[in-house]
Amino acid sequence: MTSPTETIENPLRAGIRLERTAEPCVVTIFGATGDLTKRKLVPALYSLMQQRLLPAEFAILGFSRPEMTDEEFRARLREAFMEYGDKETFDEAVWESFANGMFYMSGDFADANAFQTLRSRLEAIDNERGTEGNRIFYLSTAPSFFGLISEQLGKAGLNESEGWTRIIVEKPFGHDLESARGLNSELAAVFQEEQVYRIDHYLGKETVQNLLVFRFANSIFEPLWNRQYIDHVQITNAEAIGVEGRGAYYEEAGVVRDMIQNHVFQVTSLIAMEPPASLSANGVRDEKIKAMQAVRPIPLKSVDEFAVRGQYGAGYVLGDTVPGYREEPGVSPSSSTETFAAIKLYFDNWRWAGVPFYIRSGKRLPKRVTEIAIQFKEVPHRLFTETDEPLEPNVLVIRIQPNEGITLRFGAKLPGQMMRIRWVNMDFRYGSSFGVHTPEAYERLLLDCILGDSTLYARRDMTERGWEIVTPILDAWKRSATDFPNYEAGTWGPKAAFDLIERDGRHWRRL
Ligand code: BG6
Repeated sequence: MTSPTETIENPLRAGIRLERTAEPCVVTIFGATGDLTKRKLVPALYSLMQQRLLPAEFAILGFSRPEMTDEEFRARLREAFMEYGDKETFDEAVWESFANGMFYMSGDFADANAFQTLRSRLEAIDNERGTEGNRIFYLSTAPSFFGLISEQLGKAGLNESEGWTRIIVEKPFGHDLESARGLNSELAAVFQEEQVYRIDHYLGKETVQNLLVFRFANSIFEPLWNRQYIDHVQITNAEAIGVEGRGAYYEEAGVVRDMIQNHVFQVTSLIAMEPPASLSANGVRDEKIKAMQAVRPIPLKSVDEFAVRGQYGAGYVLGDTVPGYREEPGVSPSSSTETFAAIKLYFDNWRWAGVPFYIRSGKRLPKRVTEIAIQFKEVPHRLFTETDEPLEPNVLVIRIQPNEGITLRFGAKLPGQMMRIRWVNMDFRYGSSFGVHTPEAYERLLLDCILGDSTLYARRDMTERGWEIVTPILDAWKRSATDFPNYEAGTWGPKAAFDLIERDGRHWRRL
């Protein structure tokens, strides 16, 4: 029997999780003085410690260029935690024991000697704290260093140890197909694929994990989950924020690179995949890649039929006036980087033949919302001819964030003498149903890596497939002129995005 907490956590994986406890290990963070360590990694690791999901021996070794003592590093992380962590549940004693396991070394990633020093530091930590040679290397630097650090680790013999060795690679994973393949080869020259954990924080979101439970722990949806009953699928990933001071990075990226080829495709694959035979890391990832391999290639010459792009100009978002993208710091005043994209995909396989997946993602849209809408087909025969209401098809909406939950929309008879139909919602909300703390994506992902479970990490083939799908789009856009800005901040994107779906006789849902 499973306890209620296990059921809440994730029934499909709870069994696996409970059989294993995290072993003592050292996480070496490259780029430890950067933003990610402060904002995400340290709060997540502290929270795991506080929940006793990590053993007391657990250690962190920060590796960055600035000179700093261990004590200064600890003080710096504490200060960061007070800014970004959950102060309400902060416990001085837990922090004390967490901080005792924090160490720092200064070094240059190009310097082979620094990696010899790293090796000795890790051995010393193993002896001092009993971390048994179990190691994670976390690449949280600028992406241009990923290949170099991996190579240096290999040269220093740090790709293996007496315990286990794993490497976590942050995003962005490449800039295009070629660079992603190059990075994968650089990693593969040093590490086995089983040692490589490529982060996609969307996979750590509770609601994204729930897609597996929803589809495969319930028997009523799967029979309908195909071209016979589903008219189309809409996936919306909208952000109200702009580029938040990351203009220089975003100029080189754009929404297709930043969000679609990774996060949005991961979510899409969970909707499109076949049931896996098991929940093993490869069992799930084999089915995801199989689905993505069925995506029909978009011909370069007809990209406009399948993809549209946009860039926001000045406007109002959530009541505030905001500048246009080209006015953001670090952005060129004539930038042709897209901040919005809508794409139509087809999966050429038995389940989905002829069912379009409409995907849209953008910044400075009216609000933050990520949802998947499964739009069912209309009833085969219209029985209620007297009603003045047009018959809406059923829609199943899975809200990834915020207000996480699931809604099923269906027709019901309006009480009274007449036969009238109203459209009503049946709602499940995470917050009110479970009322428990939802772990941060990074908590789940870091713990999974420590436990050696890579199910929620992107496998090599998936990173390359994402790039393959978007390559014709990026190539066509590079060659053609834009008329940016073409949507006002605070609106749902350019007119062309509406045309894309309306040409097919369908509409974006009003969110
Ligand atoms: C990041 C992107 O990967 O995801 C950001 O680089 C984006 O541009 C962020 O804002 C969105 O994440 P979330 O979890 O807030 O939806």
